[in-house]
Amino acid sequence: MHVKTWLVAAVILGSCGTFTTAMTMPLMCKAIWVIGLPCDDVSTALVSQIKKWSDADNCLTGGEKCLYELLSANQTYIFAKHTSPTGKSVDSLTFILKRYREAPMCRTVGISISPADGRKFDNGTNYCNLFNLVTGSGLVNVPLFKEVTNDFMCNQRSTANCEVV
Ligand SMILES: *[C@@H]1O[C@H](CO)[C@@H](O)[C@H](O)[C@H]1NC(C)=O
Ligand SMILES: *[C@@H]1O[C@H](CO)[C@@H](O)[C@H](O)[C@H]1NC(C)=O
Repeated sequence: MHVKTWLVAAVILGSCGTFTTAMTMPLMCKAIWVIGLPCDDVSTALVSQIKKWSDADNCLTGGEKCLYELLSANQTYIFAKHTSPTGKSVDSLTFILKRYREAPMCRTVGISISPADGRKFDNGTNYCNLFNLVTGSGLVNVPLFKEVTNDFMCNQRSTANCEVV
């Protein structure tokens, strides 16, 4: 699959610093959230948030919390797109949901990828594409919520301002 191919390439090339400077790499973010809910509920919450933010209305005063498009979803996978309202890029989003230890806990892996267009930094956009859905849907307030990510997994994550980007 397209997304997986990029991901594998990004992981392999990302581990050899000399290659990354010579090649145009897609910018991306991979973040993991452990959420104290069954994965069905996590999937439903993310899908309804994607639908809620599918038109441009929520960006009339700025921000990026709009123009999401659901491609397909079930209890395990969610595929979507996010178009930046400023036209900067159209990013591919994937969520992979898996029961974690004793239910009800869901390990939620989010991946956002921008097309390789020569940019070296995404200003945290790929992280915010995912994180805005997690906060907007209220999943961030669920008990046992835990996030695993860093600036290697998500381009410019630590300086991202998800209310703006
Ligand atoms: C969910 O979707 C994925 C990707 O399209 C597919 O591989 C998987 O079989 C589906 N699972 C169920 C339970 O339908
Ligand atoms: C990067 O994001 C900040 C907010 O976090 C924003 O003020 C700035 O304009 C963005 N820069 C670019 C080049 O998009």
